[in-house]
Amino acid sequence: VPAPSAATGTARVLVASNRGPVAFADGPDGELLLRRGAGGLVSGLGQAAADAPPDADRLVWVCAALGDADRRAASRAPDGRLDRAGFDTGRAAVRILDIDQEIFDRAYNAVANRVLWFVQHLLYAPASQPVFGARFRQDWAAYQAYNAMFAEALAQEAAPGACVLVQDYHLMLVPGQLRRMRPDLRIAHFSHTPWAPPDYFRILPDDVQAQLLHGLLGADRLGFLTDAWADAFERCAEALPGVAVHDRQVRVLAQADGAQADGVEADGGRLVRIGVHPLGVDVGELRDRAAQADVAGRAAELAALAGGRRLIVRVDRTELSKNIVRGLLAYRELLRAQPRWRGQVMHLVCAYPSRHNLPEYREYTQAVRRLAAEINDEFAEDDWCPLHLEVTDDYPRSIAALSLAEVLVVNPVRDGMNLVAKEGAALSRRDAVLVLSREAGAYAEMGGAALVVNPFDVQATAAALHTALIMPAAERRRRAAELAAVAGRLPPRIWFTDQLAALAAAP
Ligand code: G6P
Repeated sequence: VPAPSAATGTARVLVASNRGPVAFADGPDGELLLRRGAGGLVSGLGQAAADAPPDADRLVWVCAALGDADRRAASRAPDGRLDRAGFDTGRAAVRILDIDQEIFDRAYNAVANRVLWFVQHLLYAPASQPVFGARFRQDWAAYQAYNAMFAEALAQEAAPGACVLVQDYHLMLVPGQLRRMRPDLRIAHFSHTPWAPPDYFRILPDDVQAQLLHGLLGADRLGFLTDAWADAFERCAEALPGVAVHDRQVRVLAQADGAQADGVEADGGRLVRIGVHPLGVDVGELRDRAAQADVAGRAAELAALAGGRRLIVRVDRTELSKNIVRGLLAYRELLRAQPRWRGQVMHLVCAYPSRHNLPEYREYTQAVRRLAAEINDEFAEDDWCPLHLEVTDDYPRSIAALSLAEVLVVNPVRDGMNLVAKEGAALSRRDAVLVLSREAGAYAEMGGAALVVNPFDVQATAAALHTALIMPAAERRRRAAELAAVAGRLPPRIWFTDQLAALAAAP
């Protein structure tokens, strides 16, 4: 754990996330090309930063270098601040942390993506339960060090009393570490994942559980995407000694080691407030993007591919939690049980590679490819390809696919929110029927207007696909309008400014 640092910076608002708002790639002549990162958080914060007064030090975003190009970009500036290295990062200054490769691999792959992601999404199968031995202890030390690097950078950049918004499961220790260095700061943490129920969270070694929970409880405010995830967190937190939970407030009396918590008042503890902020999408921005020529070009290609057939669409990272294999099994079941749809529909599956450093993800990608090929072998006819699998990430094509969908399949086994459900609702030009897993965070808001499925029940999912295909036009229109309204309820920009305002107002 880093020692308290005396120096303070000038940033009034800071964001920290593993993946940052910009990424670098190598250009054809060896030059560095700057790209805007993807994702709702980036677009929301981009807007929030654009609204800010023209003061370069107002918002600093700290993130990790994710490849050699990022590392070289960071090394151009003595302090890793890209705006000072001559890159135009918009109104936000971006500080890329050049983290030792081994520490990064252990923290990001071994702990964050293989353990924490698996725990929060309940992904361990009985036959592949984790083993927490000596190797895990090295990984865990790396996770602590990686978090400490973020905490140190934030402590250096933050002005006295600044607001710091830490994102996601990669950085769960940062709030506690940062509070120890800079008790003057207002700190928030937001979990973009689900939270595991206590019985499952208990898979983790006891001291690791306590460090994670106390790491988060170092914040003034903790944010979750749904009430269900906030409730699960509270149930895990209240199992800690010296912690009491009541009415979306957690009172922390003691630390993991039993010592009095930092900043505890004589009157009995430090209060951590829990907020539920169901991130949505910016409907106007998405529709503007959909109106651009590259999307129209992709839409024309997809329409030609479908040849007038009705499109059942899914768009995912190829990710175990997204349940792509069971989604394909449901489509196969549909074609077997309801032969009337053969030749009438096409399943467009956009499944983009993700986290291929982990064997589980590579195997899952293979399973998706195999099953897609099997389905085509079983049903294809001379003039009909039942399933089209796209594995190359292409944003304009994803937008085009969502706008042309008649049925959108979102069937994760567990998902913090699932923004594809909301993007699809915002972009649909054909009143797409949403087949939605009840285990996605989006279910809390969209369940009423979607066809809701148990993601493990392949037959029920097949039946929902059939129901979607026969749904009368008027009902489709009514449901689609409701889904679109829900999708735009809390766009990223307001999601962010609401949390910032709540943090700034914290006592
Ligand atoms: C989820 C996480 C994000 C993460 C994203 C992509 O949405 O909540 O923090 O950035 O997946 O995963 P990756 O490992 O590619 O960053």
